[in-house]
Amino acid sequence: MPHCEQAFEKYDFPPGRGGRGAFTPTDAECFACWDALAMLPHIREHSLLVAGLATFLAKRAAQRGLDVDVAMVRASGLLHDIAKTYTIRHGGHHSQLGGAWAMDWTGDARLAQGVVHHVHWPFELDVKRHFLPLAIIYADKRVKHDRVVPLTERFLDLLERYGTTERIRQRIGLSNQQAKDIEASLSRILEIDLHAYPFDSRGLVE
Ligand SMILES: [Fe+2]
Repeated sequence: MPHCEQAFEKYDFPPGRGGRGAFTPTDAECFACWDALAMLPHIREHSLLVAGLATFLAKRAAQRGLDVDVAMVRASGLLHDIAKTYTIRHGGHHSQLGGAWAMDWTGDARLAQGVVHHVHWPFELDVKRHFLPLAIIYADKRVKHDRVVPLTERFLDLLERYGTTERIRQRIGLSNQQAKDIEASLSRILEIDLHAYPFDSRGLVE
């Protein structure tokens, strides 16, 4: 990771598998990455649960014959907020910076896409075609701190915490609508009512 080391000094990634092409990091490798980036404890907790929920969706999709790489979805979920601690301290867009770091570290554009686009999806909502990023967006919008909550609860929380201007509140509203649309598509394709499904937050991280 030469240029990350140069740019961010102490933000020193664990070694990738340079020279062997793209790779999907294991849980242990993602945790080492969190350590290297001094990720704040509450972001680790959030990421673990987002990854658990995304993994659940990916397994279900794979069972239903969708072309989904479960391990890649999981790693993308674990890494989706890797730049958050940095941007809390220094500013910037955590999804864009995190996507660049994920791309740099893993060499995998599909995995990194889930990090770049975990706040908003700017393309068509085709769950079959774009399963990974849409699953990460959806999982992120269902996890509040250390619990899986309905979309509405998470959005009221986001409004309260970040809705400081009318423009931001509008953006949060649009994201809310998009998350509802993703929920409807995922529910149809996975044949499960995700809104009503009784997710066990503990079960998802064990
Ligand atoms: Fe995030």
